Amino acid sequence: MSDVIVRLTGVGRVFASTAAVSDVSLCISTGERVAVLGPSGAGKSTLLALINGSLSATSGVVEIFGSEIAALRAPQLRSIQRRIGTVSQRLDLVDQVRVLHNVNAGRLAQWGTARALIALVWSRPDTIAMSALARVGLSWAVHERTERLSGGERQRVAIARMLVQKPDLVVADEPVSSLDPARTAATLDLLCEAASEGTTIVSLHQPQLAREYCTRAVGLKNGRVVFDLPTNQLTDAALSELYTLA
Ligand SMILES: Nc1ncnc2c1ncn2[C@@H]1O[C@H](COP(=O)(O)OP(=O)(O)O)[C@@H](O)[C@H]1O
Ligand SMILES: [Mg+2]
Repeated sequence: MSDVIVRLTGVGRVFASTAAVSDVSLCISTGERVAVLGPSGAGKSTLLALINGSLSATSGVVEIFGSEIAALRAPQLRSIQRRIGTVSQRLDLVDQVRVLHNVNAGRLAQWGTARALIALVWSRPDTIAMSALARVGLSWAVHERTERLSGGERQRVAIARMLVQKPDLVVADEPVSSLDPARTAATLDLLCEAASEGTTIVSLHQPQLAREYCTRAVGLKNGRVVFDLPTNQLTDAALSELYTLA
C-alpha cells in the first residue's frame, strides 16, 4: 500500500555479542503517531536509528518511503533521510556557531551548494528561520552562540532545525526526558505537527504521554516487540509487564 511509510520485516541489529533489536516486524502508515516504550536498554534508540537509516540492520529488511534501505547508494539514502526529521538524544548541534546557523542547517539539503556554503559563514534570519524559532519560543536567541544556551533551549534549537526541514516523518528519541511538564507538552505538540501529515515515531519514558499524544504504542523489551496496540487499548497490566525486570 502506498500509504505505508515504514516497513520492517524480521529486522535485527547485533552489536558485537549484544542483540539490541531482534526480529522486529512493523508497518507504520502516514498520519500514525507511534510511541516506542520500554525500559533502558530495550533497544528503543537502536530501533529509531534503523528507521531513520543512520544504522544498518544485521538481519531482515528495512523499507522507508517504499525503498529498501540496504539497497540504496549514498545519494539515494541521503534523499530519503532528507524527508526524515530526526531529534536525537545527542542533539547534534554545532556549539560554536550562532543559533541561526544551527536552525538553517535543516535547510542545507533544500539549498544548492553555493547557497549552503554562503549560509555557513553568513546568513540573515529570514521568515522561515524566524517563524521556526518563534514556534519553539527562542526568537530572542537567534544571534546567540549556541553553547550559551541551557540544555532545554538547545533541544528547542534542534526542534527548530527540524521544523525548517519540513519532514514527511519525524523520528524523535526521548525528546522530553529532561523537560518540565509545560515544556514537555509544548514540545510534543510541536513534534506531532512537524511532519507534513503528522507521522511521528517517538520514544518516551512516560506511558501517560503515549496515551495523550500518540495513536499507537509499541512496547520493546530485550530488543523484541512485546505489544503493538492502539494507545486506547494500552493497559496497566501490559505496561507493568513491560517494565518488570526479567
Ligand atoms: N553502538 C553500540 N555498541 C554496542 N552496544 C550497543 C550500541 N548501541 C546500543 N547497544 C546495546 O544495545 C542494547 C539496546 O540499546 P539501546 O537501543 O540504546 O536501548 P534503549 O534506547 O532502549 O535504552 C543495549 O544493551 C546497549 O548496550
Ligand atoms: Mg535510548
